[in-house]
Amino acid sequence: MCGIVGYTGPKEAYPVIIKGLKRLEYRGYDSTGVALQDGALKVYKKKGKVAELEDAIVGKDLHGHTGIGHTRWATHGEPSDANAHPHQSSSGKLAMIHNGIIENYVQLKQELINKGYQFKSETDTEVLLNFIEEIKKNNHCSLEEAVRVALKRVTGAYVILLLDADEPETIIAARKGSPLVIGIGKGEHFLGSDASPMLEYTKEVVYVNDYELAIVKPDELILKNLGNEKITPYVQKLDIELAAIEKGGYEHFMLKEIFEQPHTIYDCLRGRLDTAGGTIIMSGIQQYADQVMKANRIVMIACGTSWHAGLVAEYIFEELCRINVEVEYASEFRYRNPVINPGDVIIAISQSGETADTLVAIENAKAQGAIILGVVNVVGSSIARVSHGGAYTHAGPEIGVASTKAFTAQLAVLTMIALKIAHDKGTIDRDRYMHLLNELSEVPNKVETVLKSKDKIKKLAEKYKDARDFLYLGRGYNFPVALEGALKLKEISYIHAEGYPAAEMKHGPIALVDEHLPVVVVATKDAYHQKVVSNIQEIKARKGKVIAVISEGDTDTAAICDDVLIVPEADEIVAPMLSVVPLQLLAYYIGVAKGFDVDKPRNLAKSVTVE
Ligand code: M6R
Repeated sequence: MCGIVGYTGPKEAYPVIIKGLKRLEYRGYDSTGVALQDGALKVYKKKGKVAELEDAIVGKDLHGHTGIGHTRWATHGEPSDANAHPHQSSSGKLAMIHNGIIENYVQLKQELINKGYQFKSETDTEVLLNFIEEIKKNNHCSLEEAVRVALKRVTGAYVILLLDADEPETIIAARKGSPLVIGIGKGEHFLGSDASPMLEYTKEVVYVNDYELAIVKPDELILKNLGNEKITPYVQKLDIELAAIEKGGYEHFMLKEIFEQPHTIYDCLRGRLDTAGGTIIMSGIQQYADQVMKANRIVMIACGTSWHAGLVAEYIFEELCRINVEVEYASEFRYRNPVINPGDVIIAISQSGETADTLVAIENAKAQGAIILGVVNVVGSSIARVSHGGAYTHAGPEIGVASTKAFTAQLAVLTMIALKIAHDKGTIDRDRYMHLLNELSEVPNKVETVLKSKDKIKKLAEKYKDARDFLYLGRGYNFPVALEGALKLKEISYIHAEGYPAAEMKHGPIALVDEHLPVVVVATKDAYHQKVVSNIQEIKARKGKVIAVISEGDTDTAAICDDVLIVPEADEIVAPMLSVVPLQLLAYYIGVAKGFDVDKPRNLAKSVTVE
């Protein structure tokens, strides 16, 4: 959460930083700010999105070749001009931006207050900055040295970028627990929370590790650990094109990402799934296939939409591999002293690869001897690096805050892993295995078919947009799809929505059903179909409005529903990749119909790097 950008080099820094901040706005948009070096430090900041800052500083002096910028997701202190970053130190000579939380800031703040410091904001960031300034003053040392000393006292997570009026071309950066990428140009360097701000200038990047500090000048990048020892930067080549992070003619990133799914699922299967040869090749899994086959238990750890993917995978792994699976919210798992036994395999699922709870949960499990496999979208991210092995989802950058294409790509990867293990373990017969490989390979085309109903879904959105609550129901493989549909609607339309297992409805939520309640039922043809149809009858008997996701040709179910969303028939193992798509579109169009910024829903951030 929070997006950070830095630039030092021959270009004017401000346009590079503002463009970079717009690319990182998915990480938070409570306030925006920039600091520029131009003889003296100039700081401009404002509550609101990047565009609001731009409007507010038209006509100001924005020159400078070194600068930093920040887009905030508030933790300490409400969104306001005063709490916006960059913060300036008491002397005015240092400016700093921060992503993360300084947990012991209250104690540090008290120490500084005792020394006479006063604070302009409520943020932990301003405390850390003045703590650094105090060390610099007392020790008569460089900013770099002061940062090193300060960080040894700090608990919590951070990426910080600092400017010092006395070192006009230098940016000091440090990270622990939040992401930081440095792009290497010709006589210039770029810094960012991810690589998107630098993509059009360079493909050469360094991912900074925890407890590393970077001294960044136009033509020099020095990396050190907190013990002041130099580290050789590991330069990697980015494999992303600029088009992947632009809207490409779509009104929103979310819509673009929904429509990318036929390609992203295909990209995910490509080179791994060989239907003719009957093989699945996943090099990052192969090495650990034995441990997975022998595992007593697989624990899926994730948050949000990725957790829903884990729930679908639970059904698939138990069915195909006959291995006991548990699905855990990372935030609960990390704090409850879970029992990790030898032979346990953890699968961490994360789009960003930076979710703080998931990261810490797998670090803890790894320390206790578990094998960690990551199913991650962002290449080189922290979760990918902490994992022993795993598989990337290859969905490309997902910018819309509501996750869509990452979910279906996660399902594709998890299904391939389950099929591979089941095949190697002998828990699936050849015919079923070959059938499922074919079913999987047909998913991209079938998703393409679902997307053709977008106009119909848009009309439905108009019809239901004013509902106060929604209920989403599904059973078996489609129960997590119901949860995901409800989450999408909540996130971008702010309508209260609950996802429930269809059969559980009669144990409570049925009390909500009346003629005003739209109930979205995922009722595709699978082993539970008749049971779900009975649940639909129960809702209709109480005058509820039923919008059902049904399989093509299922006229009987269509006849008892108010509205239907049709998906092609598919094996129940791959069906969630299809049935979720109309729910993504329904949420999207309702959000748009209500006039909300669906790419940047209120209070949310794309990458949750605080706990
Ligand atoms: O990057 P991750 O997959 O680890 O993120 C997990 C959740 O924060 C994420 O899925 C969140 O729930 C999305 N906003 C859902 O649309």
